[in-house]
Amino acid sequence: MALQEETPKFKNKSSDKNAVDILGVQDFDAVEFYVGNAYQSAYYYQRALGFKPVAWSSLKTGNRKYASYVMQQGNAKIVLTSSYEPSSEISSHQLVHGDGAKSIGLRVKDAQIAHDKAIERGAKSVLEPITMKDDYGEIRLSAIETYGDTIHKFIERDGYDGHYLPGYQPFQPILETEERGVVRIDHIVGNVNWNQMDPTVQFYHEVFGFGTFLEFSPDDINTQYSALSSKVVRNYNDRVKMPINEPAFGLKTSQIEEYINYYHAAGVQHIALSTNNIIETVKNMKSNGVEFIEVPQTYYDDLKQRVGDIKEDFNELAKHGILVDRDERGYLLQLFTKPIQDRPTFFFEVIQRRGAQGFGKGNFKALFEAIEREQSERGNL
Ligand code: FE2
Repeated sequence: MALQEETPKFKNKSSDKNAVDILGVQDFDAVEFYVGNAYQSAYYYQRALGFKPVAWSSLKTGNRKYASYVMQQGNAKIVLTSSYEPSSEISSHQLVHGDGAKSIGLRVKDAQIAHDKAIERGAKSVLEPITMKDDYGEIRLSAIETYGDTIHKFIERDGYDGHYLPGYQPFQPILETEERGVVRIDHIVGNVNWNQMDPTVQFYHEVFGFGTFLEFSPDDINTQYSALSSKVVRNYNDRVKMPINEPAFGLKTSQIEEYINYYHAAGVQHIALSTNNIIETVKNMKSNGVEFIEVPQTYYDDLKQRVGDIKEDFNELAKHGILVDRDERGYLLQLFTKPIQDRPTFFFEVIQRRGAQGFGKGNFKALFEAIEREQSERGNL
């Protein structure tokens, strides 16, 4: 189906392309974060966000270099890794960026072909294809650079029954996990520096064959003070969707610039986790200490006129501060956490799609006004 037909109400510019399957990218795989204290991060991911620690690698499993926990909820996997050594690549990443996403895993048909084609088409290798084995089977793995210090790991895991990679062992959790209804990763957003959005989108076009899905200009996404531009790239089967944001000029500091100032590079801004019941997911996360952005109650005054009939109760949505947006295919519900570390960098989104394929364009203004209030409280606006 042509993108033009799917998204008639959005501005389609000459850079729009249909996705083609060049590298055999099938879906997101695990996202690995380098953090200061993986043990304590794992506790937050489990108790607050509802991820179950399913596997680990550490001194106790024979890993002398780093500790790493595989956290899973539904099909969403987040790996939290901390180094034992001061001069490791993990430690230097954490020193510069704080806690942040190092690797966006992509499940591929063939890790050798994905890697070699990517290199041929202009990507930089960070890991030549390797085969890893343990009692759970065999994996092939390779990796390339993307924006900032972030990488994509190509993971071929058809012949593997373990949770993540060979060497990781099943984890015996101390606590029971109460899941929050997360089903999978819906999309992963990257923030890049001034004028880097188009080259980054071009990289995904040329190297991956990804298409452009939607585009937002500063006219769509501005508030009184700051602005951003965004384009969404996606793979052929729509399982991998990655908006790329760059700052735009406004009266004051763009929130994307604030991110870059604290992350000290381009990097992953947020991961959207999909749920089939956003009210329950948000309610349970909130009652376990997850902080979400505060949506002004005025947002709900004319919500019914804006989105029409929906299955959810408007009062419940207002009570939990959940945002709603409609496009030509249906509607979606979404909400954003505050940054989940001290630096104003990475946060999560919770999203429930009821037909809509977009990213909540109609919410951008309300959302960014709320984010700016936070930014202002930090003295960074
Ligand atoms: Fe998002």
